[in-house]
Amino acid sequence: MPNPNPKHLFHATLFLSILLQALSKSTIEPCSNSDSCNALLGYTLYTDLKVSEVASLFQIDPIALLTANAIDISYPDVEHHILPSKLFLKVPISCSCVDGIRKSVATHYKTRPSDTLSSIADAVYAGLVSSDQLREANSLSDPSVLDVGQNLVVPLPCTCFNGSDNSLPAIYLSYVVRPVDTLAAVAARYFTTLTDLMNVNAMGSTAINDGDILAVPIPACASNFPKSASDFGMLVPNGSYAITAGHCVQCSCGPKNLDLYCMPASLAVSCSSMQCRGSNLMLGNVTVQQTSGGCNVTACNYDGIVNGSIVTTLSPSLQPQCPGLQEFPPLVAPPTTVARDTVFAPAPAPLFDGDGPASPKSSLVPSTGLPGGFSPANGPISGISSGASAACSLVKPFPALTYALVLLLVKLMIPVAL
Ligand SMILES: *[C@@H]1O[C@H](CO)[C@@H](O)[C@H](O)[C@H]1NC(C)=O
Ligand SMILES: *[C@@H]1O[C@H](CO)[C@@H](O)[C@H](O)[C@H]1NC(C)=O
Ligand SMILES: *[C@@H]1O[C@H](CO)[C@@H](O)[C@H](O)[C@H]1NC(C)=O
Ligand SMILES: *[C@@H]1O[C@H](CO)[C@@H](O)[C@H](O)[C@H]1NC(C)=O
Ligand SMILES: *[C@@H]1O[C@H](CO)[C@@H](O)[C@H](O)[C@H]1NC(C)=O
Repeated sequence: MPNPNPKHLFHATLFLSILLQALSKSTIEPCSNSDSCNALLGYTLYTDLKVSEVASLFQIDPIALLTANAIDISYPDVEHHILPSKLFLKVPISCSCVDGIRKSVATHYKTRPSDTLSSIADAVYAGLVSSDQLREANSLSDPSVLDVGQNLVVPLPCTCFNGSDNSLPAIYLSYVVRPVDTLAAVAARYFTTLTDLMNVNAMGSTAINDGDILAVPIPACASNFPKSASDFGMLVPNGSYAITAGHCVQCSCGPKNLDLYCMPASLAVSCSSMQCRGSNLMLGNVTVQQTSGGCNVTACNYDGIVNGSIVTTLSPSLQPQCPGLQEFPPLVAPPTTVARDTVFAPAPAPLFDGDGPASPKSSLVPSTGLPGGFSPANGPISGISSGASAACSLVKPFPALTYALVLLLVKLMIPVAL
């Protein structure tokens, strides 16, 4: 007899309702393993905050926050620099696999007087989380009563899609849609196409709503570190930097090609040897020698941090042409104002706006570039083209009415089934 089992129905609905509340309005990526991967959050400051305060909001390294936004870390006292309200930043986070979907659960927030779930969700975390998600994640029975100093888990949206988009390395930015946004403008801002954004987010139309969270692929430089490396899977978005190996190594991506380039970081920290074994080359050094058969290029590359030590590899290669000088993504001074058209993205502005006390003593980027960078055999990386993309879905904001109806129906059906 095909009698609907009310218990199953109830569970299915419960599951559905949890899913809807936890994931509404954002692109979700199913996952099966426990690996974590790298992702970015698009975060808009709700008030003036120090660099260190933004970092502690997400429990990340302030240096990682700065380098991800190509902000000059050699600027005096940069961690205490006050960033202006409304500034848009890319926040690097680790994306885990929890209950079969990708999300970040490493962030905690300590409640302060006068906080409410919606002020935490909408203001402090700028729409990256909803009050419902906060309530669910923290099993709050009465969300109107928040104790001061309560430690809340803040589940944040992230996707990785295997670190690629159309088979090219990419890192995904979780972007909160604002009323002024159009999908085409978001695509243009991040150098991708409308088709690509629609594919990635499994959208049937270009309609987006205020508060939706889009996964935006950003071309990146992929690392090729061994699985045993603690920084395995490092991805550096085009135009930015990453600091790794306990602040000893900095890796950059772009602007000319998407080959990861790593060299010793200029931060004053004690680091183990960064010389390539069997040579006098240091990490990031490249020698070139024109021969009759082509250009003999030898580079000392960074290969991750394994067992707590920096691994370097000497890699010789014969290339048709000698590579030019290594170019670095331009650095910006810590922002002090939000320009009208940079409200949406920190456009690489000209260095230093002049109100800093002094020029930085030393720059993150050496003033004398080294010959470097490989011209990979696999050719130039062209603009993102459209194509089949990873399986995912944009869970549209379910109208509250629909949701209520489902619940109502289930409530009606249970007695009927009994
Ligand atoms: C993930 O990407 C790697 C290369 O980056 C590729 O070898 C692998 O097949 C991809 N896996 C899936 C499931 O797409
Ligand atoms: C990387 O960024 C630079 C500008 O910063 C841009 O000119 C270049 O086209 C970008 N590359 C890709 C593949 O998006
Ligand atoms: C090798 O790299 C180190 C560290 O970046 C740098 O100080 C040095 O000048 C480089 N040497 C050569 C020969 O390029
Ligand atoms: C390339 O240069 C390296 C070191 O400079 C040298 O050992 C090697 O023999 C050279 N290879 C060729 C093919 O010239
Ligand atoms: C790292 O350490 C483990 C155990 O101490 C050892 O088995 C492994 O071979 C080491 N790996 C490398 C690359 O040195």
